[in-house]
Amino acid sequence: MITTKVTTMKVITLLSLLSSASAATIKIDVGKSGLTFSPDSVTAKTGDILEYHFQGPVPHSVAQSDFSSPCNPSKTGGFYSGMIGTAGNGEDSDVFRVTVNSTSPIFFYCGVPGHCEGGMAGVVNPSSSGSETLEAYKNAAQSANTVAPANVFGGVLGPADDSSSTTTVSETGTGTGTSSSTMSPTGGNSASGGAGGGSYGGNGNSGSAALGASVFAVS
Ligand SMILES: *[C@@H]1O[C@H](CO)[C@@H](O)[C@H](O)[C@H]1NC(C)=O
Repeated sequence: MITTKVTTMKVITLLSLLSSASAATIKIDVGKSGLTFSPDSVTAKTGDILEYHFQGPVPHSVAQSDFSSPCNPSKTGGFYSGMIGTAGNGEDSDVFRVTVNSTSPIFFYCGVPGHCEGGMAGVVNPSSSGSETLEAYKNAAQSANTVAPANVFGGVLGPADDSSSTTTVSETGTGTGTSSSTMSPTGGNSASGGAGGGSYGGNGNSGSAALGASVFAVS
């Protein structure tokens, strides 16, 4: 009996430690497949961080709104990321982080005209009863007119921790290509031209001289 009690208490202590130990980061993809937030409904604790990841190539934003006024800025507080466009199909190197300060529902939408009307909205901590559902919000959004807040506020735009190594690799590649193409018109140095040609050849686009150098470098 005593042993059972102690074990139960230990489990309860562990559980409460786990739930209060550290704030969770909740990742939400923005525009990964059309006009979507994914996931578009999340549960968060006070202190958790909403981390919005912007996916290319269409620019998007995220702003908080009130349930009663879909696709429009929240009347009090809230947040706005500003419009973020990515260079290609990948993810932008910056993410927008918003701290959750309560467990009340937070509705959010994309502030690019037409996107919220098209269903680009989501909710944090939806109420489990009542009529203020994400579905009801999206239905009302269809006949709304999207208005974005005037300024970025309520969150922090910064580098995504988990994409830093990927970012470094792609930045290095871009740097090499740029410097070699700058050198080519200057001419003269065939060794540098060859190295640049090899790098460009790998990416599939280049002038004929660089391609020639690439063939040499490969064979
Ligand atoms: C939580 O509080 C911080 C600091 O005041 C604020 O920047 C942030 O926007 C708030 N979060 C929400 C969801 O309003």
